[in-house]
Amino acid sequence: MKRATAILISGRGSNMQSLVRACQDPDFPARIELVASNKADAPGLDWARDQGLPTLALTRSPGEGRADFDTRLDRALTDRGIDLVCLAGYMRLLTAGFTERWQGRLLNIHPSLLPSFPGLDAQAQAHRARVRVTGCTVHFVDSGLDSGPIIDQRALHLEPRESLESLSSRLLALEHALYPECLKQVAAQQVQLIDGRAIWR
Ligand code: GAR
Repeated sequence: MKRATAILISGRGSNMQSLVRACQDPDFPARIELVASNKADAPGLDWARDQGLPTLALTRSPGEGRADFDTRLDRALTDRGIDLVCLAGYMRLLTAGFTERWQGRLLNIHPSLLPSFPGLDAQAQAHRARVRVTGCTVHFVDSGLDSGPIIDQRALHLEPRESLESLSSRLLALEHALYPECLKQVAAQQVQLIDGRAIWR
C-alpha cells in the first residue's frame, strides 16, 4: 500500500519535483497527495498544479500565532488522509505540538552535514567556513532548527577554490538523489523512528 504523502514547500520546489518524479514509479511505496506552501506565490506550487497535483496555499492570517497556524496545517493534512510529510525547502519553524504529532512521519532535507550548519544559507555557511567536505542530510524532524534523528547523508569534497554557485549546484544534485531514496525507505518502513533514533532494518 502506497503511503499518502504531502510535501511542504516555500519556494522553488526542486526537491519537491524530485520526490514527485520518484513517486511516479509504480513500485514506489509513497504517492503525493498534496503539495502545500506557506507562500501563495511559491513557484513550486505552479509546477505542482501543472502536474495535476492537489495544491494548497496556506498563508498566515494577520495576527495568527504559530500554534494556530500549525493547527490549521495539521487539520489540512489530516482531512486529506496524509500519512507522511516531507519538508522540501519549507522555511518556517514548526511548533513542538505539530512535530510531536507527526513524529516519525515528518522528514526534512537540509543542504549540510548536520549537525553542522543548520539554519539559512547552509551552503554559504559551509563555503565561508572553508570546510573541505560538506553534503546534505535527510532527518526526522523535531522542534529544533534543522534538528532531529538523521536518516541518511551524502557528502562531497569541495574543489580547490570552488565557487559558492558551483558548490550549491552540486549539493542540490545530491539532495535530489538522497531525498527520494530516504522517502522510499521510510515509506517502506525500512527505517523507523524508535526511541528517538532512526533505526534501519
Ligand atoms: C534546498 O536546498 C533545501 O535543502 C533547503 O532549501 C532548499 C530548497 O530548494 N532547505 C533548508 O535549508 C532547510 N533548512 P528547493 O525549493 O529547490 O527544494
